[in-house]
Amino acid sequence: MAKETKISMAVIRRLPKYHRYLAELLTNDIDRISSKELSERIGFTASQIRQDLNCFGDFGQQGYGYNVRDLYNEIGKILGLDKNYKTIIVGAGNIGQAVANYSKFEKLGFHLQAIFDKNPKLVGIRIRDIEVKDVDCLNSYLAQNPTDIGIICVPKEHAQMVADIMVKHGIKGIWNFAPTDIKVPDDVIVENVHLSESLMTLSYRLNESNLFNE
Ligand code: NAI
Repeated sequence: MAKETKISMAVIRRLPKYHRYLAELLTNDIDRISSKELSERIGFTASQIRQDLNCFGDFGQQGYGYNVRDLYNEIGKILGLDKNYKTIIVGAGNIGQAVANYSKFEKLGFHLQAIFDKNPKLVGIRIRDIEVKDVDCLNSYLAQNPTDIGIICVPKEHAQMVADIMVKHGIKGIWNFAPTDIKVPDDVIVENVHLSESLMTLSYRLNESNLFNE
């Protein structure tokens, strides 16, 4: 049973990792695990795990450990993975096509309904059986097809305009790949993905540890 307390963002950011490891355990037919064993696999301390998992239920039992399926299902529910999301991608270039081609998102409940681009050379091609539509049709498409999540994969100069159209048609979740901070009303959630920030963190860590010799 989930507790009613609000879970901190720091815990939420760790949940996908728990979800991934628990899925692996289930695949390997492991149905219970102690916080110590989970800690060895996942790399968080056992007390961190107990504290995190205690936020949303009493899954751990002294001497028994955690019931892997219950925990997996509960974390999935907290992450909203027990629902289905209608998604669209705008921008069918390198990133847009890579995201569209990643079929595992479907298994998580994110169903790609349509892809848009402005380049006539891309309009009409099929990516995973979805035909790329002309972005001029975006307004009319969204007016007729309520959509939950919009994925922005256009150059940064176009990102705000695309976001505005999405917001106008009631999209409440935006996954933004463009390297710019788009502005949206308070009732719209934006999650930015910036691979370059991760790469810069890697380069910092390499250099800080003197592991990189030019
Ligand atoms: P790309 O040039 O291959 O693709 C961009 C696509 O957007 C093109 O097909 C273009 O025709 C289309 N487009 C441009 N304006 C449009 C509009 N108004 N409406 C619809 N389609 C439009 O570029 P790439 O490499 O796929 O990058 C896409 C975006 O992702 C860029 O903003 C780039 O800076 C960013 N990016 C983000 C990364 C990340 O880690 N988040 C990593 C690499 C790129």
